[in-house]
Amino acid sequence: MNTNNNPKDIETSINNMYSLYEKIKHIIHKDNNEYNSFSLTLFSLEFDDIETNYSTYLEISKEILSFIIENKPKKVRLFNFEKDKIIIFAPGSVVEGQKFFKKVLNKYTNLSDIFVDKNIVLKINKSEVEWPRDGDNFDQLLSKLVDKLNENNCNDLASKFNIHPDNIIINKSGKYLNNVKKKSTQLYLIAKNNNLEIIKQNIIAEKSFQIRGGGPGNFELFYILDGKISYAESEKILNAGDSITAKCGKEKKYFKTLTEVTLLYITSNPIFASEQKRINELIALNNKIAETDHETNQHCNRLQILSRLTAEEMDLEEKRIFNLGFASFLHDIGKVEVPTPLLQKPEKLTEEEWKIMKRHTEWGKEIILDHFNSEHFDKIAEIIYQHHERYNGKGYPQGLKGNQILIEARILSVVDAYDAMIYERPYQKALTRKATLAEIKSEKGKQFCPDVVDAFLKAEKTYQQRNNNI
Ligand SMILES: [Fe+2]
Repeated sequence: MNTNNNPKDIETSINNMYSLYEKIKHIIHKDNNEYNSFSLTLFSLEFDDIETNYSTYLEISKEILSFIIENKPKKVRLFNFEKDKIIIFAPGSVVEGQKFFKKVLNKYTNLSDIFVDKNIVLKINKSEVEWPRDGDNFDQLLSKLVDKLNENNCNDLASKFNIHPDNIIINKSGKYLNNVKKKSTQLYLIAKNNNLEIIKQNIIAEKSFQIRGGGPGNFELFYILDGKISYAESEKILNAGDSITAKCGKEKKYFKTLTEVTLLYITSNPIFASEQKRINELIALNNKIAETDHETNQHCNRLQILSRLTAEEMDLEEKRIFNLGFASFLHDIGKVEVPTPLLQKPEKLTEEEWKIMKRHTEWGKEIILDHFNSEHFDKIAEIIYQHHERYNGKGYPQGLKGNQILIEARILSVVDAYDAMIYERPYQKALTRKATLAEIKSEKGKQFCPDVVDAFLKAEKTYQQRNNNI
């Protein structure tokens, strides 16, 4: 690494690290399913948050580069720069990195509290690299990682670092400034200029999404590049070439993808960084549950699909279906607060343990309200809070009865019970489809709302037919 502080050298160093990071990301994200227990800690600093200008950015970059050089033999080793983000790779402890960042920020900004103190723990795919599992072996981990990277001829490096903002920048197809992915949606930041962001977005079929138009003075354009979207309010079908424009509005409008859709999304209110943060937080929360509980991502995905189909049978408004989908995916998020031995206990829980376990509904509500500060998430939090209520009033946490329970929660409770019975769990063999449906029917009017059971039976049939199971 060059220790010279002239901008050209900094650019080269930054580019090298940026490439390295892209390669690491490639390895980390290659397989979302198989992880081992080793993790690297990443944390990020959003340059957007400190409204840095180009020269400040270079100053900060210089400081960071010298920090890396100075600290070479120390623990915090690998750093990466993106246009508006720094990511630090560190072993378990990030204290050194944190101290350093606070120092730099205090020097360059008036904001003392801007440091993003969020640790995102990424899991590494064991099949890719034999990671050291314990002990103080971060160096070993890094050298293995670097060896692996050298072998790996990754072709998907991100576009060149945008170090000369006034120049023409050509992004070859498939190269983006940044991207964030979850199962249902991928966002690719194509271009950014001050507040203006141009994003390519892919959304899977049968997914609701909402458009409001952002804050005051904001303007948004969604141009459909591929696929079909329905607009519930006017029963319009939108195709490739159609577009939706939106300005700040009081109400969100709900759309649903009928096929897989690709959009060009242009907004005058930058959303990429916050969306990326939100999605990463969700993924981290979800991984946390998957780590300790039998409930897997697949379980959450199935619940989301079946809840939607049932809600559609009941003609629920698109807005409510959207909330239900979200709540279905995160319904047991509160279990992150339940001690792991309790979650994994194969024997029956004691009364005292059961009391703790039941609190996951309340904790789930709190987590959602803590993480997502909007009135729309209040509804989602409430559905999660009520997902163990029973139609006959014998559920928890409040013992609500009949229509006192939100319709979304009544749907989720049937779908959750169905999925728990029909798929094998560590402590319980799977029931046949016939036996599962018989069980659901026998609880109609008792544990479950009768109308929901009727709708669910039709929805379940559609679901099975779609999956070619019947
Ligand atoms: Fe639950």
